[in-house]
Amino acid sequence: MAIEIIAHRGASAVCPENTMAAFERCLQLGATGIETDVQMSSDGRLVLIHDETLNRTAGAPGWVKDTTYEQLRSLDAGSWFHSDYAQEGIPSLEELFDLIQGKKILLNLELKNGIVGYKGMEEKIVQAVRDWDLEQQVILSSFNHASLVKCKRLAPEIRTALLYMEKLYRPYDYAAKLEASALHPYKLAVTQEEVAAAQAQGISTHPFTVNDPAEMQALIQMGVEAIITDVPDVLSALVGVH
Ligand code: G3P
Ligand code: CA
Repeated sequence: MAIEIIAHRGASAVCPENTMAAFERCLQLGATGIETDVQMSSDGRLVLIHDETLNRTAGAPGWVKDTTYEQLRSLDAGSWFHSDYAQEGIPSLEELFDLIQGKKILLNLELKNGIVGYKGMEEKIVQAVRDWDLEQQVILSSFNHASLVKCKRLAPEIRTALLYMEKLYRPYDYAAKLEASALHPYKLAVTQEEVAAAQAQGISTHPFTVNDPAEMQALIQMGVEAIITDVPDVLSALVGVH
């Protein structure tokens, strides 16, 4: 089976992460999927940015949760990476939906609701996915597993994936109990036995963030179904065009 090449925050090695430039570029570099981080503005709009605060990638003080959509949209989310990207803003979720609509691209939306408990976020994401008819293309992931259970309750038709850093005890049984479709472990938490046991229950394994070809190869040999990477071109070269 062909392995999914999921570009982490878009083509984040060569473009500013979580910008439209990064999302467009990763498709040119062979990505078959895109991972991005979803948060909410103070007035309840879904936006794509990794950090809960704005200073690192948008050069502004304060938190995403305390900033209006209009203010967020006025920020420069590209210059920190390179002056060529000064025009890049913080994208809305709808902008990314528009980019992938009609394309066979997997979309992994990570709900960044571990530190900030965005009220109503699950309902908004589920509604947006349904409005754009993207139920089959989207996987919702989060380190906040209770939030994923809520998503599943709201939308049984949308796949969920459990993010985790450390080893879990029988993660496939845990995923089955939470009705998750996939495990998204940190790369060092993966074992061949667990990948096989997950597969036996219809649960796939998509480790993050894997940029080294030797590590990619080892995980492919363990049987993972997808890899989340900053360098989709490297993984694409390894597995061939598909
Ligand atoms: O989805 C995998 C990965 O994105 C989780 O960590 O910090 O890069 O969002 P982080
Ligand atoms: Ca992420």
